[in-house]
Amino acid sequence: MELRINGQTYTVASDAAEPLLWVLRDELGLTGTKYGCGLGICGSCTVHVDGEAMRSCSTPLSTVEGKAITTIEGLATVEADGTETLHPVQEAFIEEQVPQCAWCMSGQMMQAAAFLSNNPQPTEDEIIAAMNNNYCRCGCYTRIKTAVALAAEIAEERRA
Ligand code: FES
Ligand code: FES
Repeated sequence: MELRINGQTYTVASDAAEPLLWVLRDELGLTGTKYGCGLGICGSCTVHVDGEAMRSCSTPLSTVEGKAITTIEGLATVEADGTETLHPVQEAFIEEQVPQCAWCMSGQMMQAAAFLSNNPQPTEDEIIAAMNNNYCRCGCYTRIKTAVALAAEIAEERRA
């Protein structure tokens, strides 16, 4: 099966029923996407499929064939000359020094990026609701909320 991940095409040997997370981490070495609960609950494995946030631990390969998959490794923009521009969410999470252990953070950022692409100027309540099902065992929720709001401001400045 062929998968399109971060703009590249990969041929994978795994069975069509295999969860995407296992293929990303174990077959392709894209270990930025993390395993948490394995049950679709915690959000640490969140990636984008055609721009929407999906939990890769509970997403079989058969449902993503031919779709554009983005992982945390592909969230930044890379120009033809190799210059990398961090996504506003990445920039904001660094600015706010959000992570503690960081295990949940790629999932948090992928969730936030998909949310902001659909709602570029969210209210605080909308941010809380959007991030509510991504768990952080270190309890970084206040900084996550602040960083998502900052990411919206950064994205707005870039569009201006
Ligand atoms: S590891 Fe996928 S939702 Fe927890
Ligand atoms: S920073 Fe440790 S689980 Fe979120």
